[in-house]
Amino acid sequence: MGRNVIADIKATRNLDDLYKVFADNHLTAGWHKKRPSLWREPRTGFQPLNWRYADAAMALDRAGEWMSTEDAERRNLLMFNPVDDNDYDTVRTIVSAYQMIRPGEYARTHRHTANAMRLILDSDPGVFTVVNGLKIPMRTGDFLLTPNWYWHSHYNEGERNAYWIDFLDVPLVHRLEPMFAEDLPAVHQTVTSIPDPDACPFVFTRKRVLAEIGSQPTLPGGARRLVLPTQQYIPTVSVTYLQAPKGAETGAARTTASRIFAVTSGNGRARVGSKSFEWTMGDVFCVPSWHDFEISASSEALILEVSDEPTLRLLGFFRDEAAPPAAP
Ligand SMILES: [Fe+2]
Repeated sequence: MGRNVIADIKATRNLDDLYKVFADNHLTAGWHKKRPSLWREPRTGFQPLNWRYADAAMALDRAGEWMSTEDAERRNLLMFNPVDDNDYDTVRTIVSAYQMIRPGEYARTHRHTANAMRLILDSDPGVFTVVNGLKIPMRTGDFLLTPNWYWHSHYNEGERNAYWIDFLDVPLVHRLEPMFAEDLPAVHQTVTSIPDPDACPFVFTRKRVLAEIGSQPTLPGGARRLVLPTQQYIPTVSVTYLQAPKGAETGAARTTASRIFAVTSGNGRARVGSKSFEWTMGDVFCVPSWHDFEISASSEALILEVSDEPTLRLLGFFRDEAAPPAAP
């Protein structure tokens, strides 16, 4: 602090005078701050919410009458959580969005440090993405990875609109601030190879998921879980499929992870904290940090879960209410 500040401090006659000097110098007394900095357990303004694919598809179709992918880099609908002035994040660390591309359109090439994943909801042959030169079909039910800093663009050379759900860790990147992004000046990528989707590490076909989840053990409640091996390419989040036969129930006690669920098939209900909603194919619901949840299937269902649990574990911040914290 400079000489003027010293003089200001000497001129104070009470604590209130001193607080003014603190504020002028970007200081706050720890005993006089506006809000607490510590609390007993996680608290979040993020709410359990759900979004319906049928609504989003109709809204995107309508938007498509007026907005091309030339005008909008991506024709997507972000599923935001109304906390403070947020209009982007679905949960604190992850955003999800419905996206639609019309026949003959392409979504131009860019890349960013945020990781992206896509669950394809409805597409015909001729819809594909190019990821660092690899031409990958976007087939209904498939789950695709676009890791940090990989070029990507999307094309619809089919006959109908194509729809999918994007998941990105952009909110986490916003919080930690390592965001870089750029467009490819050439707009289109050169396709360097067309990999076999069954052998490409960025592709998890519905067929493969169904084959592998069938050999997983049945959990109490009747569901099965399959964790996809995505960590090598996208370390910030985990991707898990839940397969729930009719009548099956699954859920978890409160954890510090934030999660987004997307339904790839089936119908049922979910309770997240004190909220309940029904879900069907293509619907999304979110479980913010420190909310317990239960999912029950009224018909055979396959549900995708994207969770920030790996980030929390890496940083030593993962806790599960069912298990006490490890002793120091
Ligand atoms: Fe992107």
